Amino acid sequence: MNENRDFTPAPASTRASAAGLLRHPSHPPVLSARNLTKTYGPTTALAGLSLDIRAGESVAIMGASGSGKTTLLHVLAGIIAPDSGQVHLNLPGQSVQVEALAESARSRLRREAFGFVFQQGLLIPELNALENVAVALMLNGAPRPAAEQAAAGWLQALGLGGMEQRRLGELSGGQAQRVAIARAQVTGAGVIFADEPTGALDSATSADVMQVLLESTIGAGKTLIVVTHDDGVAASCGRVLTMRDGRLTGDSAGGVIAAGLARGGNQ
Ligand SMILES: Nc1ncnc2c1ncn2[C@@H]1O[C@H](COP(=O)(O)OP(=O)(O)OP(=O)(O)O)[C@@H](O)[C@H]1O
Ligand SMILES: [Mg+2]
Repeated sequence: MNENRDFTPAPASTRASAAGLLRHPSHPPVLSARNLTKTYGPTTALAGLSLDIRAGESVAIMGASGSGKTTLLHVLAGIIAPDSGQVHLNLPGQSVQVEALAESARSRLRREAFGFVFQQGLLIPELNALENVAVALMLNGAPRPAAEQAAAGWLQALGLGGMEQRRLGELSGGQAQRVAIARAQVTGAGVIFADEPTGALDSATSADVMQVLLESTIGAGKTLIVVTHDDGVAASCGRVLTMRDGRLTGDSAGGVIAAGLARGGNQ
């Protein structure tokens, strides 16, 4: 998978690093979920959820705390397996039934095809900004000099030139999230998952980080799926999904979800 990896630095403009994904509406979705269920003991986190996401879309997932947003993100990204249902990933040259993969293959998929930006926790405090970004490439086998060159290109492109040697504690919350955004994308991942990426930021910094995230993903032809409680973040995305009790209850692309699809019907 991903045989054409190269570890060249990011171009000065992230817009130039188009992922080459197909955007035409007649092409199959990049992610197709069907009838997903997931329970934790007595708790139903996903109650038969179906969803298609097309390449190049920016999709916000909203809903009350406990409605299943993070669980959905983790199932789509192969971090956890659903109890039942399917997730199909369709990237150029790569058609994969995510939930059917062995853990080692899912782990490789997460490292190579997906990028992750979470509220906090993915960056390593002992490493500086450059190393935190480069490590994502080195985990995929890139030699350190090439990885650091690519990392430096991304930090520069995201407005962090000159901050390469700073550790996490020496960066503001917004700067740290830019490092996380660089790290999520340095591998060339075509699909970026973000879980409350601005949850710990004030509203001005939040808007700034969302702009960087959108420009570097959607602006480069990638797909962005972002869980958020923030109306401003959702408004900046092209499509807004709403969840309740493990089901989709709203989709700005198609109005309110038809009852059959919300129940996990074969759409
Ligand atoms: N590992 C787990 N063990 C037990 N219950 C879990 C686990 N993960 C999630 N849950 C439960 O599943 C439901 C959905 O959780 P999830 O984290 O997906 O919600 P969420 O919509 O992301 O909420 P929030 O907005 O608070 O992050 C919740 O009731 C939660 O308590
Ligand atoms: Mg959550």
